[in-house]
Amino acid sequence: KRLLPLMAMFALVLSGCGREDLSVLRPQGPVAQGQLDLIKLSISIMIVVMVVVFGIAAYVLVKFRRKKGQDEIPEQVEGNHKLEIIWTAIPLLLVLVLAVPTIQKVFAYGANDWNDPEAVKVEVTSHQFWWEFTYPDHGVKTAQELVVPVGKKIAFQLKTNDVLHSFWVPSLGGKMDTNTEGSVNYMTLVADKADTYIGKCAELCGPSHGFMEFRVKAVDDATFEQWVTAMKAPAVLPADAALAEKFKTNCLSCHAVGDQGGAMGPNLTGIGSRETVASILLNDISGNPGTKPTKDNMVEWLMEPQAVKPGNTMPNPKDLGFSDEEIEQIADYLANYKLDY
Ligand code: CUA
Repeated sequence: KRLLPLMAMFALVLSGCGREDLSVLRPQGPVAQGQLDLIKLSISIMIVVMVVVFGIAAYVLVKFRRKKGQDEIPEQVEGNHKLEIIWTAIPLLLVLVLAVPTIQKVFAYGANDWNDPEAVKVEVTSHQFWWEFTYPDHGVKTAQELVVPVGKKIAFQLKTNDVLHSFWVPSLGGKMDTNTEGSVNYMTLVADKADTYIGKCAELCGPSHGFMEFRVKAVDDATFEQWVTAMKAPAVLPADAALAEKFKTNCLSCHAVGDQGGAMGPNLTGIGSRETVASILLNDISGNPGTKPTKDNMVEWLMEPQAVKPGNTMPNPKDLGFSDEEIEQIADYLANYKLDY
């Protein structure tokens, strides 16, 4: 009975606290599969070493234990060249067995496929605390949600706009640090099947590091092209002309919708089609489960951005002169700004 709480704790650790979609144990692409193979190889070696070492220790403990009536000091042995060579050679061999495939894969996965004509290029720029994705060949920029064609090489060029972050999609592979300009990193991933994968920032980067999630939506080629076309459609603005003007002057000085606005903040084109608000899961932001943001999700965020995501650089809309009613209208507009794809 005493073992029960301990076993429960182990089960929790092994289950990764229930986030199956964040597990490296369910690879959905060749890179993640290769990385899992390495994990399996190193765990197998560790298990063999553990069994052998524990076995020898147990054998020695039993075989050479002090027997009844045995009072004299046993024979003292000092040094044994043969044994010393064996127990130096075995670990060396094991390290080699581990190092060869590891080094191979490190170079293979960090290979620069940026100039591969087959690859879909995505520039990843990390910010405190959001992700910017630019598709140079498609002329599209988005945030938080990466849309990629399934089965194709996606060549990433990674850098940061501020501090170090790390780009990681557990089911597809990773992770790769985003460094400042001059130390750009490259990585290539492939998604084997159409699905939505969860990405995480894997480098402690500030108070809202834990809210730096993103999505990778792998879709078929036709859907991807549709998405690109939808992203390039003329900007949709709030219906009310006065509010649209206010939205342009204030929000679009940092954010962009369609072909309008700036690039300081996350691109908002089609934000109503995403699965997060400010990269926070919808049921985490207002206890409202679902896959598309609702007006309530947006209101929650816009009314008190610092309370929802501490340390983010968005000004409070109220400080910019938006009334509660206007915030609700903007929230409604954003939640309904969906992309047709
Ligand atoms: Cu960005 Cu942690």
